Amino acid sequence: MISLIKDKKTKEFGDFQTPRELAFEVCLLLSRLNLKPSTIIEPTCGLGSFVGASRKIFHSAKILGFDISPNYIAQTQDKFKDEENISIFEANFFETDWKELFKTFEKPILVLGNPPWVTNSQLGVLESDNLPEKKNFQNFSGFDAMTGKSNFDISEWMLINLFESLNRQNAQLAMLIKSSVARKILTYAWKNNIRFSKSAIYKIETEKHFNASVDSCLLFCDFSGDQQTFTTEIFAGISDEKSSQTIGFENGELLASVDLYQKWKYLNGGSKIKWRSGIKHDCSKVMELTKDGEKYKNNLGEVFELEDQFVFPMLKSSDIANGNLQPRRWMLVTQKDVKDTTEKIAEIAPKTWDYLTLHAEFLDRRGSSIYKKRARFAMFGIGDYSFAVWKVVISGFYKKLNFNLVGSYDNKPIVLDDTCYFLPFETESEAKKVCDLLNSTAAQEFFKSFIFWDAKRPITVDILQKLDLTKLEKFSKTKAQNGLKKAFQELSENCNNESIGVNLQNSFNFEE
Ligand SMILES: C[S@@+](CC[C@H](N)C(=O)[O-])C[C@H]1O[C@@H](n2cnc3c(N)ncnc32)[C@H](O)[C@@H]1O
Repeated sequence: MISLIKDKKTKEFGDFQTPRELAFEVCLLLSRLNLKPSTIIEPTCGLGSFVGASRKIFHSAKILGFDISPNYIAQTQDKFKDEENISIFEANFFETDWKELFKTFEKPILVLGNPPWVTNSQLGVLESDNLPEKKNFQNFSGFDAMTGKSNFDISEWMLINLFESLNRQNAQLAMLIKSSVARKILTYAWKNNIRFSKSAIYKIETEKHFNASVDSCLLFCDFSGDQQTFTTEIFAGISDEKSSQTIGFENGELLASVDLYQKWKYLNGGSKIKWRSGIKHDCSKVMELTKDGEKYKNNLGEVFELEDQFVFPMLKSSDIANGNLQPRRWMLVTQKDVKDTTEKIAEIAPKTWDYLTLHAEFLDRRGSSIYKKRARFAMFGIGDYSFAVWKVVISGFYKKLNFNLVGSYDNKPIVLDDTCYFLPFETESEAKKVCDLLNSTAAQEFFKSFIFWDAKRPITVDILQKLDLTKLEKFSKTKAQNGLKKAFQELSENCNNESIGVNLQNSFNFEE
């Protein structure tokens, strides 16, 4: 989305001013939720869309707006100069002690707004320092761990600060943010004992309101009340009264569907067979080839004669997702294991070695730190498993939960690119059995309880690894022999978890 904005200042401050209608719609929703704030605070108020909208709806509230931009502050102060309940201040969010400030205002407090939509690495490119100073945040639990992350939204830091400052206060928060940030904030809050009695996510039409292509939402949280909830209702739109989904948090895990997790949590236990990623080489120009008669053509359009030994048929994520399981590309694979040296290729396959050395400049300039201190022309994510003849495969990029069986081609195992995940098998029958199990409703619903389809890479190794295949196989056998009810019963009994038994009896009518 950032490419859509033109000037540096706009980018630096993640500046997407909220259309007035949207700010008004949000305030109407908050009024429908029966909020009666005495003080409304907008920490990054810009040109004051929310200040204006909230004044129309919450007549008696005192409204305070803050922003880093002197230009916006001047315009907004001017706009509301005759309103005695509205005060606008120039302030840098990261230099403001929100916790102390909140103490001084009449409760209930509503913190409202639309923080900047920019990541720290985008700021890095712009040589901007619109970032918190580490020392300002050191009192916050978990912050050190957060700063270790390579890329994060600065709104994430702002929201963490606000959540820490509002914890256990008679206060509510409603903020327009990216959906991925909303999930991170909720997870942070749940992990760090920040208490809220109610929360909800209302999806926003980002394209329509901000002309930007990213999933975004209004995150609402109520910090008042003594109850801690571990679920959040998701609404498809701001005016929706009925939620479409409930996400939640259990045993340290964020759940995309609490209902599906409750149904299938007995299958959570980890796979004994390890899920693997495909081979990573970061150099498709040189390492990915197509056949040109008896020779190979690379992505630079050059044709070479190569020994067959190091060339393997390959499938990419797009092939897997589209069901094109007949390889049309080949991959030059320089190792059998990440620890292997590569110089021996010179002796075993001199043409291949010449090809590699001729293109060394492409391979040597691969930026990723994983290639440092490794053999020249090394690859990553490579081991015995990469060459297993049978694989059960899924693409991590595409929004399809579809497992495929992949075998060999031209008497060689098919290898996969690093956006695919797979389980390796020696025999076709074992691979086929597992593939069928993974495509069963039980497995699909189990995975769906963890998958957020709007994430960049919805299907991850972590999610795949959660499913206990042994339990799933047993469940499937009992279901085939004695029916679904018996199969559920057996699963729950083997889980040593009484609450599961209760769930089972109460929640399901044994329809798969
Ligand atoms: C996405 S815009 C939203 C503006 C306004 N809240 C609205 O809804 O129209 C983000 C705002 O954050 C302000 N901003 C960026 N960095 C800031 C900081 N460190 N402290 C305070 N305001 C900041 C920008 O000037 C900009 O007005």
